[in-house]
Amino acid sequence: MPVILQVSNLVKRFGQLTAVNDISFEIYQGSCFGLLGPNGAGKTTTIEMMEGIKTPDAGTIRYQGEALGQQFRNEAGIMFQTTALQEFITVREIMVQFSRFYPNTSSIDELAERYALHEFLNQDTRKLSGGQKQRLLLAMALINKPKILFLDEPTTGLDPQSRRNLWKQVQLVKEQGATILLTTHYMEEAYELCDEIAIMDHGRIIAHDAPDALLAAHFDDVVVQIHAKDIPREIGEKEFQAIYRNDSAHILTGDVNKTIEHLLHFDIPLDRLRIRARDLEDLFLELTGKELRA
Ligand SMILES: Nc1ncnc2c1ncn2[C@@H]1O[C@H](COP(=O)(O)OP(=O)(O)O)[C@@H](O)[C@H]1O
Ligand SMILES: [Mg+2]
Repeated sequence: MPVILQVSNLVKRFGQLTAVNDISFEIYQGSCFGLLGPNGAGKTTTIEMMEGIKTPDAGTIRYQGEALGQQFRNEAGIMFQTTALQEFITVREIMVQFSRFYPNTSSIDELAERYALHEFLNQDTRKLSGGQKQRLLLAMALINKPKILFLDEPTTGLDPQSRRNLWKQVQLVKEQGATILLTTHYMEEAYELCDEIAIMDHGRIIAHDAPDALLAAHFDDVVVQIHAKDIPREIGEKEFQAIYRNDSAHILTGDVNKTIEHLLHFDIPLDRLRIRARDLEDLFLELTGKELRA
């Protein structure tokens, strides 16, 4: 697959703060690339430079080998944050307004049908629920049949069902051949949707690869999770080097059988025991010493 977008040594400063600090990566055509990181990591600043909205202080962005220009603007779809949605206007009106920016657009009725918005076409945008607003914003981003779609935290604030629903829509867009760049602080979202992930913290990329490759490169153990009440801290910490977080004690082990035998030896009840693979949240914690959603 050819590279569609190439980012080289990108820097953005706000006064003393370097919000994006010399990052480089390439996005392959037809793939979904995720920028994963906590609030303030520099994701929005990065995506806005890539969208051509913010001007970098240093570095370059190339779309199909060229600097960002008219062709890029015609072929890029941008899903803005909900706060940008105009009010006192109907869903159809906002879609018509938006489609006027582009030479080549999809039919509004078809988009409304596909994103289950047809019932609301004549309603004021204020009456939409969170999930409906996100679907409208996605439909608007797709109005110019984009080759590359930018999604900045597309599911933040949505309930789990609306979130899964939006994931499905994004997957459909990808199946139709579009390239996607998305930012998120939900590791499940990055894991579910992205072919490649760059983990950002303090304006830098601290790890970058396919999600499973990132996990395989960093971990060869699993997490045995026990209810904190079932394993006294002095035993957990001393005997198992357990890490206590919220209601659970987390034991990292490369040998589950041995760990369970050891737990039985201390008469630890195993009724509430869970075993899970290491995930991107663990990776972020390992790389930075802090939690993704802190
Ligand atoms: N217009 C701005 N002026 C000053 N500081 C900003 C501006 N935009 C973002 N920042 C700062 O830059 C850093 C990165 O912000 P942002 O890119 O929005 O992060 P993220 O999207 O990962 O939460 C944060 O510390 C934020 O406060
Ligand atoms: Mg942001």
